[in-house]
Amino acid sequence: MKHSQLVVSVAREVPKTEVVGVPVTSDKAVPGELGLSRAQLTAAGFDGKVGQTLVVQASGKTVLIAVGVGAGSSAKAHDLRNAAAALVRAASKYASLSTTLAGAGRGDRAEIAQAVTEGLLLASHRYGALKSDKSFGSKLKSVVLVVETKVLGAVANGSRRGVVVGEAVCMARDFANMPPAHLTAKMFADRAQEVASETGLRVEVYDKDKLLAMGCGGMIGVNRGSVNPPRMVKLSYRPSKSSLKGKPAGKGKKSALPHLIMVGKGVMYDSGGISLKPSNPSHAMMKADMSGAAAVLAAMSTLKALGCKNQITAYLMCTDNLPSGSAMAMGDVLTMRNKKTVEIHNTDAEGRLVLADGLSLAAEQEPDAIVDIATLTGSCAAALGPKMSGVMGNNAGFIEQVVAASKATDEDVWELPLERSYRRMLDSYIADMKNVGGGEAGAITAALFLDEFTGGHPWAHLDIAGPMWSDGDAGWLQRGATAYGTRLLVNLAENFRRR
Ligand code: BES
Ligand code: ZN
Ligand code: ZN
Repeated sequence: MKHSQLVVSVAREVPKTEVVGVPVTSDKAVPGELGLSRAQLTAAGFDGKVGQTLVVQASGKTVLIAVGVGAGSSAKAHDLRNAAAALVRAASKYASLSTTLAGAGRGDRAEIAQAVTEGLLLASHRYGALKSDKSFGSKLKSVVLVVETKVLGAVANGSRRGVVVGEAVCMARDFANMPPAHLTAKMFADRAQEVASETGLRVEVYDKDKLLAMGCGGMIGVNRGSVNPPRMVKLSYRPSKSSLKGKPAGKGKKSALPHLIMVGKGVMYDSGGISLKPSNPSHAMMKADMSGAAAVLAAMSTLKALGCKNQITAYLMCTDNLPSGSAMAMGDVLTMRNKKTVEIHNTDAEGRLVLADGLSLAAEQEPDAIVDIATLTGSCAAALGPKMSGVMGNNAGFIEQVVAASKATDEDVWELPLERSYRRMLDSYIADMKNVGGGEAGAITAALFLDEFTGGHPWAHLDIAGPMWSDGDAGWLQRGATAYGTRLLVNLAENFRRR
């Protein structure tokens, strides 16, 4: 299934399109084809900053759109991703666009072409399945990246990668935007199976009976209030022999492929459970409480197409969190997969309960590192806002790799301390721990809870509660579920190194 309606291609010659997007710097010469002077552009309020566009009705049939790329030729891949996003928005009433944007700026051409292509796909995406107006959203169907012959190969290759990644992000957004009744845990697992078979992944789906038999008390406990059964999806990727050519084939455990495990929070709808959230319309976005699982599935779907050389395993922990006569109550004690016991003090702190089982299963495989991603705490969103994810973990070297992936993809993260002295806030008089700390440092105590299930393996936790949702269209973000972290995880999976 396709999640972006845009076809991006690469050519040497300018094709006939309805719109031509012309990159304009903020200081260098204005391209002659615009037919406007710098003074005229300035008078029209366009000074070439990244994200600015100006529609210039040309004399012929073609519409010219000036698109700002910033100072000189110093624009970097991230600027050009945002410039491409602004351009597709400005061209959204037309069906076809060509642009030389992939030849603008400075840096690796393939990297720039990938970023530009991502920007095109991401800013033209809408979840339109539930609109009766089927022409809802961007009308743009095709974009041609026009480049010089000598960079054609690099641009084509980068753009191909951009299509793979952009399509994956659109898929994750579609899943996260789907209403609770349109995407139950079972439906999501079914879709994950389809995605896996289309993208060369091994997949295993665990139903309620299996989860019970495996002792996954977190998953079972959170699911207890729901009539929809839970699902855990395990996805496995191994590079093909041919893609590993040139890599020394090693013997024994430590020379095996680097192995990274990703765990995603898949709470299909978070009502809070018995600790019911107040009736605030903004909580409709709690349908996107499975954004972590969606990002993990999407990232996994790209690995074969991108030729990832590491071994990657993923767990999607899927259930909703609802109140009913059978729901988990406060004071209940759950026994998790790793046998630790948890006293429930707030059923709305459910994400950590489902992640606990996923992390335990990940730890059992003795991977080189584990990363989890979750819309976990309002506390993290309050601290860092919508622009960045929190990151916490037990291993500075691995956190460094996560930060590097963040820098490479323009999905910002900020490290919060895993302050071990706060662990006592989770102490329970009856069980090994409570599922909530006090009122303070909620993002940190949530991470300290997760830490109990990692078996001491290098681990990083991404709390995307802030950036999981966007109130409007801006840069590569579109209103609604953002699929934040998808591109970061792709980059992390590709560049992961054992320490
Ligand atoms: N899914 C929410 C966290 C969340 C809040 C995500 C806002 C996105 C936007 C999570 O399950 C939750 O309810 N957390 C509680 C934890 C508390 C009870 C310790 C919270 O943050 O209030
Ligand atoms: Zn909750
Ligand atoms: Zn939640």
